[in-house]
Amino acid sequence: MNYSIEHKKPIEITSDCLVAAVFEGPSLSPTAQAIDSASDGAVSRLLESGDLEGKKGQIMLQHHVSGVSSKRVMLVGCGQQDKFDTEAFRAMAARVAVHINKTAATSAVFALSELEVNGRDNNWKLRHLTEALEAGHYQFDVMKSEPSKTRRLLADVIYPITDSDDKDAAGQAVAQGKAIAAGTRLAKDLGNLPGNVCTPTYLAEEAVKLAKEFGMKSTVLEEKDMEELGMGALLSVSRGSRQPAKLIVVEYAGGKKDDAPYVLVGKGLTFDAGGISIKPAANMDEMKYDMCGGASVLGALRALGELKLPINVVGVVPSSENLPDGDANKPGDIVTSMSGQTIEILNTDAEGRLILCDALTYSERFKPKTVIDIATLTGACVIALGEHASGLLGNDDALAQDLLAAGEYAVDRVWQLPLWEQYQRQLDSNFADMANVGGRPAGTITAACFLSRYTKSLKWAHLDIAGTAWLSGKAKGATGRPVGLLTQYLIDRASEAA
Ligand code: BES
Ligand code: MN
Ligand code: ZN
Repeated sequence: MNYSIEHKKPIEITSDCLVAAVFEGPSLSPTAQAIDSASDGAVSRLLESGDLEGKKGQIMLQHHVSGVSSKRVMLVGCGQQDKFDTEAFRAMAARVAVHINKTAATSAVFALSELEVNGRDNNWKLRHLTEALEAGHYQFDVMKSEPSKTRRLLADVIYPITDSDDKDAAGQAVAQGKAIAAGTRLAKDLGNLPGNVCTPTYLAEEAVKLAKEFGMKSTVLEEKDMEELGMGALLSVSRGSRQPAKLIVVEYAGGKKDDAPYVLVGKGLTFDAGGISIKPAANMDEMKYDMCGGASVLGALRALGELKLPINVVGVVPSSENLPDGDANKPGDIVTSMSGQTIEILNTDAEGRLILCDALTYSERFKPKTVIDIATLTGACVIALGEHASGLLGNDDALAQDLLAAGEYAVDRVWQLPLWEQYQRQLDSNFADMANVGGRPAGTITAACFLSRYTKSLKWAHLDIAGTAWLSGKAKGATGRPVGLLTQYLIDRASEAA
């Protein structure tokens, strides 16, 4: 989509559709008010008729409204004005994005950043409107035999801003929204692809393609390379699979040569059947999403490439399948990780931590400023936080605070859980340095405890995205989270550096 920002009155801009808001009460947004005055009360008459009430979810389309340069006017109900908060704004934007594509309008003026949202400025509103409009175009139909009917999609977006709004800042907000949307789209596509297409090899190829497109460096470690490095934990997961494991590394160098990089480590398990500790059949298909952490790392790198942020970032994606097989790892097996620590595998379904621990040890070589791992790691996190927040744990308060703040701005939220020493005991093993599971209590925390044993020398945070990376049921599909959060974290670091 093309975006333009204009210091003009919305009713005087020519387009296929002018979009303006009406609240319950009723109360008109400034642009709805202007439409009403210019048209000698067209909006008031709709209100008087009772058809338009300003309720949440209500949308009315009017053609040829006098005094308005656009061909149509779309009036969007926004509910009670004093309750119009972050969530209401985002929900409104999502509804508008769906509805505009049901009309034949291909260009539209969105007079919506004029709406008051507590604690949010013009740039935040433009950023999130842009993300919503881009998300409205998302369709995953590459696996259907018939491509979907071409829709008359919105192509030209016009944002009117007031004289007091800074046009450059607004342009930057839109650019950020577009970049995050593109990164999110990539993460969704990779997530939605089935396990027989999106294998570790496929993921590696996509990463190499991405790196080429944006002038980044990519390296793919093969199983023999991992053997040489002593990655016995990662390789033990891959044993039961016919697909070779890959360790994907993408380096983005936007900062100075000597700037320590931010490292993102994403779980890229392209299908998790559980291994010998096999999962039940119900919904097992959803374990194709077990690579969404890795996909979010590639998505964030894509956003970064578009935004050309002046920092250095390394993405590391350990990728494997986890399947039962005669050669698969077994409960009771003891493996040696790259760090030298030994692990008793009591449950082969706790494989995410096994591939991540070696990837985290590998990350030490980049001498990172911070390391964030992102993983669909525990079912327990879905029980604890549901689909609204990703779990956050780590060993550095400042990093955790930065992630909490980035999550608030991006509305891709995280919630911190404790990583107290007392939980570590649950990983005690009679035979090895640690077990790979800590029993049912506090499953998300003991998984992070396991990872903490590989990050002692790092400023590290762990994001458990098991509940947030995809939706189940009728709306089944990848969400692209937490690309928004990760990109915001990096935007914040870049502006700190500037
Ligand atoms: N990929 C799963 C976690 C998962 C399960 C995410 C369901 C989303 C929905 C992970 O590899 C796993 O199987 N974890 C086990 C750990 C347990 C054996 C300690 C789990 O959560 O059951
Ligand atoms: Mn598993
Ligand atoms: Zn898994």
